[in-house]
Amino acid sequence: MKVVFGTFLLVVCWASLRAQTPTYVADIRPILTQHCAPCHHPGGIGPFSLLTYEDVAKRGKFVAKVTQRRYMPPFPADRQFQHYSNERGLSEREISTIQAWVQGGMIRGVGGEQGIGSRKQNTGESQVPDALKPELVLRMKPYAIKGDGREDFRYFHVPMNLKHDIWVEGIEFVPGNRKLLHHSRLMVDSTGTMAGIDGISEDDPSLRNFQQTPLADEFLYGWVPGNDRVTFPAGAAKLIRAGSDLILNVHYSPSAKADQDQSEVRFYFAKKPAERIVQTLTLTENNITNQPFKLPANTTPTFFMNYGPLPDTIQLLSVLPHMHRLGRSVRAFAITPDGDALNLIKIDDWDYNWQLTYFFQKPLILPKGSTIIAEAHYNNSDQNPLNPNHPAKTIGYGWNSTDEMMNLVFYYIK
Ligand code: HEC
Repeated sequence: MKVVFGTFLLVVCWASLRAQTPTYVADIRPILTQHCAPCHHPGGIGPFSLLTYEDVAKRGKFVAKVTQRRYMPPFPADRQFQHYSNERGLSEREISTIQAWVQGGMIRGVGGEQGIGSRKQNTGESQVPDALKPELVLRMKPYAIKGDGREDFRYFHVPMNLKHDIWVEGIEFVPGNRKLLHHSRLMVDSTGTMAGIDGISEDDPSLRNFQQTPLADEFLYGWVPGNDRVTFPAGAAKLIRAGSDLILNVHYSPSAKADQDQSEVRFYFAKKPAERIVQTLTLTENNITNQPFKLPANTTPTFFMNYGPLPDTIQLLSVLPHMHRLGRSVRAFAITPDGDALNLIKIDDWDYNWQLTYFFQKPLILPKGSTIIAEAHYNNSDQNPLNPNHPAKTIGYGWNSTDEMMNLVFYYIK
């Protein structure tokens, strides 16, 4: 009797343990469908597919590690500090479910043979909802990427041939070469003097001259993998003047073999002139309070920014912090005239590869008289594995990826 009872207990315990151990089918697949599959499917921007049990189980420990560290899904901003409409991330519970699944031996569960969803469901990359057709599509000239195994930073001049001003409520960048195109930035020039920038490399000495040109819009749009079409809130749009041209700054990853890129920019026009013009506020070197912006070799400096008091009330739509490889962390607030602090962004572990435009859940009102303040930390030491220079050398402000920057870019309306 004793033995039978003991066995009974054992079976009960085992059964309840089993019940608590998550399975792929019941627990893991739904998490991955929502948070990983949009990028990790065949042909997607993720380096491998995570659609089937085998795909995931093969890398179970790796998946557990990158999710626990919140490296994946990529969203470097602190979501406790501020919430964004384009937020990505797993809940604590989802993270611990993945941990428990891996520790529990990665049980498949019943019915998992077919993996995640159908193909249709996994076209996370088709960036345009079918109903929307862009009014204007501009393509850069085809660019031949060298197969020399080096990073390549290029500037392209793209004529817009605009006879009239346009009101743009949505902008989208579609990389021609998804494998090698790492990120890009769109600028607007209205001086007509930038045609010579066509395809030049960032270390071309003439780039410095172009940098002196005052741009009509230093930051129309920035693209990194996973940053989809931006759409401004109803009634708000960017105004691009007739006669303007686009300047495209593109970073290509190193490639061992020659390849090609011809990327495209799509504009979605507002039906009528917008009531509110979306403007870009870019805080740059000039707004740094502890000048000069110099990072001596083997130091870990901090720089501070101050902008304001604002002459008018503005409504911030988004924030995009920008640094290069020596950046470690960044924080920004707005202080209202009443002394309230409005959280803008906090990134504790800066990742050069994931520079997103963070859209606030609703426009953030900064009353007249507010000040924007920011601080950014850098590590220009030999110990920083991301330092592009070994041995470390003194670095100043500049566009090149081997220079450094501290920028905050905001879309706003009045
Ligand atoms: C927005 C697109 C995107 C999403 C969403 C995404 N990934 Fe990734 N993932 C990438 C890209 C691109 C890389 C390669 C570049 C890198 O490592 O940053 C990557 C790399 C990885 C790696 C390898 C990391 C390394 O150090 O080599 C793992 C593991 C991974 N992802 C797992 C996941 C999991 C699990 C999820 C969901 C919880 C997820 N990813 C969500 C785009 C994405």
